Amino acid sequence: MDAGESRKRAVTVATLAKMKASGAKIACLTAYDFTFATVTDAAGMDVILVGDSLGMTMQGCDTTLPVTMEDMIYHARCVAAARPAALLMVDMPFMSHATVEDALRNGARLMKEGSAQMIKLEGGRGQAEAVSRLNGAGIPVCAHLGLQPQSVHKMGGYRVQGRETSEADTMVADARALADAGADIILLECVPAVLAARVTREVAVPVIGIGAGADTDGQILVLQDVLGITPGRTPRFSHDFMAEADTIQGAVEAYVAAVREGRFPSAQHSF
Ligand code: KIV
Repeated sequence: MDAGESRKRAVTVATLAKMKASGAKIACLTAYDFTFATVTDAAGMDVILVGDSLGMTMQGCDTTLPVTMEDMIYHARCVAAARPAALLMVDMPFMSHATVEDALRNGARLMKEGSAQMIKLEGGRGQAEAVSRLNGAGIPVCAHLGLQPQSVHKMGGYRVQGRETSEADTMVADARALADAGADIILLECVPAVLAARVTREVAVPVIGIGAGADTDGQILVLQDVLGITPGRTPRFSHDFMAEADTIQGAVEAYVAAVREGRFPSAQHSF
């Protein structure tokens, strides 16, 4: 029996909460189209993210900033066509949640037109009101903290966030504020492993990491990094699972197994 066959039921926010409570690791991966969504889901993934990283992986842009709502809806529909058992999370693109009204309107579009089951938005406690209103409207939310690629020009590059004590304390407070506002999960990108472990302990909702060490409730990577086909330099926190696999399906299954068994990430992938 492979990993996909072992799961019969659709993953929901309740499933993810139970996984945190039981200590079962949550495996998440990006996908942007029907074929790879099918492969990813068959591997037994818990969450598929239609990330705005599609600006780079699908469109060849330097950043995620040019990605539009129409782009997100188009790719979300392509992934949703695979009818995954994995929970389908879709990114709110740059400036689509600049105001609470924008967040509600565009969050609803991702749910209605893109078949999203959860939306993800970047930003700290300044997003708490939007998260609260989305929550009230029945829209599950993932709050993305740490390195926020939509703010790359403000952050001065793709850098590890939260190394200073004051920044770390701010991140913990942000995570708490967003969870209190109703965020269903928190995503931490490029933060020291010690800080990610602290956030994971201090909030009740599941915490998913990318470049955030081994002690979060789950892991997420970009599909192209897992398959070793990202042009140029790959980030330190990723791993090429294709190097040890015979097929794409095998590589994605190896990633799921490594996350579930706590073999990925190791110290070499962490900060
Ligand atoms: O857009 C994306 O793919 C993401 C992941 C890097 C978490 O936000």
